[in-house]
Amino acid sequence: MESPELLEVILRRASVRNFERNKKISEEILKEILLAGVTAPSAGNIQPRTFIIVKDENVKGRLYELCEDQAFMKDAPVWIVVCVDLHRHLKAAKLTGVEYDYTGVLPYTFGVLDAALSLENMVIAAEASGLGSVIVGSIIEHPEKAKEILKLPKHCLALSILCIGYPKKRPETRPKWGCDVVVSEDGYRDTDAQDVSEYWKSFVSSNLKRGGKELSREAIEKFCRENSYGKTYSNHYKEEFVNATNKKLNDFLRKQQFLKD
Ligand SMILES: Cc1cc2nc3c(=O)[nH]c(=O)nc-3n(C[C@H](O)[C@H](O)[C@H](O)COP(=O)(O)O)c2cc1C
Repeated sequence: MESPELLEVILRRASVRNFERNKKISEEILKEILLAGVTAPSAGNIQPRTFIIVKDENVKGRLYELCEDQAFMKDAPVWIVVCVDLHRHLKAAKLTGVEYDYTGVLPYTFGVLDAALSLENMVIAAEASGLGSVIVGSIIEHPEKAKEILKLPKHCLALSILCIGYPKKRPETRPKWGCDVVVSEDGYRDTDAQDVSEYWKSFVSSNLKRGGKELSREAIEKFCRENSYGKTYSNHYKEEFVNATNKKLNDFLRKQQFLKD
C-alpha cells in the first residue's frame, strides 16, 4: 500500500475516541511516533519536553480518574504523557558547572510551545501510520496529583495525555473557523457577527449529524439561536471552574519554580 501524502494525512485527521481495544501497536511504530516527537522544532534547541509512556495499570487507573473517567481512554493501547520540562536543561547546565536561572514566563512559554509541537508531530505520525489519537488535556487541571503519580521533578508539568490506538471507525473531520476568518494580511482582521453565525451553523449541523440527527436549515437556525456560541462555551468553561483552575495552576507553577512572583 502506498503511504498517503503528508498534507492528506494532516487534512483528514480528527480526534478518535473509539479504539480497537485488543489491537496492539508494534514497538517499531511506537518508536517512530516518539522519534517524530523528539524531532520537533525547539526554541534555542533546548527541547524542554518529556514524554512518559504509561504502562502500569495502577498508574493508568490513577491518571484515568484525574481525567474524569473519559471512558474511551481505557481502550487506547498507548498513553503518552507530554510534559513541559525545564528540569533536564537546568540539570545539564549544572552538570557542566553552571547553575543559572532559566525560569519565568519566557522559558515557560517556549516550553509549552515546544511540547505542543512534539505533541502535534506525534499526532500526525500516528495518523500517517494508520492509527488514530486524541489529546486528553484535562490532566493539566490536577498538576499536583499528576506530579505525585508520575514522580515529576521541579520545573516539570504534565500538559496532556496522548492516547493512541487503531480506530474502530475514523471520524469525519470537525468544522474549523475558515482561512477567511483566521488569516489576515498585514494586520488583524476582526471577527463579525456574520463570521460567527456561519461558523456556528456549520459546527452545530456537523455535531447533530454525528449524533444521527439531520435537521432542516430552519431547525438548525432555531437550535443555533437557542444554543448560541457564547451560551455553549460559557456553560462549558464556567467562570468558577476557570478561576479555580487558574489559581491551582498559578500556585503550582510558582511552587515548581517555573514562574516567579
Ligand atoms: C490541549 C487539548 C486538550 C484536549 N483535551 C481533551 C480532553 O480532555 N478530552 C477529549 O475528549 N478531547 C480533548 N481534546 C480534543 C479536542 O476536543 C478536539 O481536538 C477538538 O474537539 C477538535 O476536534 P478534532 O481534533 O477532531 O479536530 C483536547 C485537545 C487539545 C488540543
